[in-house]
Amino acid sequence: MTRSPILAALLLLVAACKGPAPDEGVALSPQAAKGKALFSTLCASCHAPAAKLVGPPLSEMAALYATDPAGIVRWAVTPGRKRADVPPMPSFRGVRESDLADVAQYIIEAGTAAGKQAP
Ligand code: HEC
Repeated sequence: MTRSPILAALLLLVAACKGPAPDEGVALSPQAAKGKALFSTLCASCHAPAAKLVGPPLSEMAALYATDPAGIVRWAVTPGRKRADVPPMPSFRGVRESDLADVAQYIIEAGTAAGKQAP
């Protein structure tokens, strides 16, 4: 049982990192629901709900693009360069734009919710 304090600390850490799901308690539109799986596959490794991972959090993306989902699609196809402290984002030009539009809708809906949940 000598390892139990370490185990407890690890469990605490895992619990702290997990946080709420980006869309917990949010009624997603059908389009956003379609985009969710693709977001998890393509974007979630670098974009978290409310905290910066490699890229900005969904809450920040939603604030920037709330009324411009097509802007997210454009960025994903041809990423710009805004933040000096991170590596450039790779292009998703190989992905169908209609699929990226679903992902964009998910980002806006889940990110708006995450922004409201953030302290
Ligand atoms: C390998 C990591 C990585 C992946 C995967 C990734 N991104 Fe990014 N993303 C970044 C980084 C880094 C930035 C910030 C780049 C900068 O500001 O120079 C960024 C920024 C953004 C922004 C902010 C644009 C702005 O105007 O500020 C949007 C929107 C975005 N990503 C969408 C997506 C979408 C959609 C996907 C999935 C299809 C995705 N990203 C996948 C790393 C990633």
